[in-house]
Amino acid sequence: MDVQIIDIPKITDPRGNLAVIEKDTIPFKMERVYYLFDVPSSSHRGGHAHKELQQLIVALSGSFDVVIDDGINKQIITLNKPDKGLLIPTMIWRELENFSSGALCMVVASHEYKEDDYIRNYDDFVALTRS
Ligand code: TYD
Repeated sequence: MDVQIIDIPKITDPRGNLAVIEKDTIPFKMERVYYLFDVPSSSHRGGHAHKELQQLIVALSGSFDVVIDDGINKQIITLNKPDKGLLIPTMIWRELENFSSGALCMVVASHEYKEDDYIRNYDDFVALTRS
């Protein structure tokens, strides 16, 4: 699976640390940033794949699990560090769950929001990965 964790460059400082995502930090051109907040711990977010969209997911605060699935293999990655990002390429099914209290999930995305880029049915996703 081409999913990978990247280090987000940071400047540590006794006054507080600073992390920065620049255009060369990630392998796609960023077009949009959105974030999930006030997520109940029992919530499941995601539950889809994307045809064109690539994303970098960062736990800015707290923690949550990302279940990723390429149609054959599944793995669970816990994100809990604001200087680590999970890069998700196209055609990966993802679910986000097990949010800690106060968790903040930031997503840097390669495209603007477009509903027709989503695959929201798991069977359709598996069929597409095999075609
Ligand atoms: P969705 O991507 O399904 O959320 P998640 O994957 O985090 O569970 O989006 C939820 C709703 O928000 C859906 O109706 C589409 C809308 N939405 C936008 O309008 N713009 C956006 O940039 C995003 C990410 C979602």
